[in-house]
Amino acid sequence: MKDKLTIIKDKAIEEINSIDSLDTLEKIRVDVLGKKGELTLVLREMGKLSKEERPVMGKLANEVREAIEAEMAEKKEALSKLLRDEKLKSEIIDISLEKNDIQLGHFHPLIKTLEELEDLFVSMGFKVLTGPEIETVANNFDALNSPDNHPSRDMSDTFYIDEETVLRTHTSPVQIRAMKEYGAPLKMVSAGRTFRFDDVDDTHSPMFHQIEGLVVDEKISMANLLGTLETFIKEFFGSDMQTRYRPHHFPFTEPSAEVDVTCHHCHGKGCPACNNTGWSMELLGCGMVHPKVLENCGIDSEKYTGFAFGMGIDRIAMVKYGINNIRLLFENDNRFLNQF
Ligand code: PHE
Repeated sequence: MKDKLTIIKDKAIEEINSIDSLDTLEKIRVDVLGKKGELTLVLREMGKLSKEERPVMGKLANEVREAIEAEMAEKKEALSKLLRDEKLKSEIIDISLEKNDIQLGHFHPLIKTLEELEDLFVSMGFKVLTGPEIETVANNFDALNSPDNHPSRDMSDTFYIDEETVLRTHTSPVQIRAMKEYGAPLKMVSAGRTFRFDDVDDTHSPMFHQIEGLVVDEKISMANLLGTLETFIKEFFGSDMQTRYRPHHFPFTEPSAEVDVTCHHCHGKGCPACNNTGWSMELLGCGMVHPKVLENCGIDSEKYTGFAFGMGIDRIAMVKYGINNIRLLFENDNRFLNQF
């Protein structure tokens, strides 16, 4: 029996050492140590041994089993490591690839200006609203009290999509939407793109940007309009800014005015940029909301009055950043944009 045990041990260890798969290792375990394994079968014969021999053989059998198990555990560990290494090698990811030189973006000077304007009005208690760029003729003209024969309705001034639909020519239709949706009292600004069939030159583009303001409440007067605009202009452009109000006409405000501010180049002394007037012309249009406009939006014009103003953001950005050609704002040339 002793010989049998030694043979089993030597054979098993030799086999274990010669294999290279975990499956084969498991098969050897079953063949040798399993219920019907070689070692188990030998142990069954223990009963036939004498009382003296039994403990001796039992001890030997245990040693054989432990030796085989130890050998198996060692092999298992070695094989697992080998397999793991191979797997890692086959799944390796090459992270050494050169990256494209990605450039971080930043805000466009126009958007920066637009957001600064909005922020300033928000700090003055205005709500920021938006409206669609494709607008109805009803909102863009009719409800704003624009007469049927008003030149701005002309095909040569306005981009028509069909008879009832236009690319909005100003942000004023957002006034109409706001009054219809929220009624009075109301204090809102709205900034965005506007479109006019204009000639393109250094200061004109068929697509440009406006910001619109509207305040409707009881007892709103021209004094409120002036106070709001003065505060805004001094906050935004600096406290040394002078303003000049010229009477003007808009169908949707009465009375109406255009506002000029001190020339940003010469600060009022007179220079070629301002034709020696010292004034930068037409910063914004404004006026007291026409009663008909309030009524068109279902607001009682006996009880409520309002003021409104609108201005071009592109021009403000150009003044602010010293840009002399509006097209630069829309060409998206990185050589230009990277300067901001
Ligand atoms: N909508 C006018 C324009 O585009 C500006 C304006 C807005 C004037 C509000 C008065 C009141 O020129």
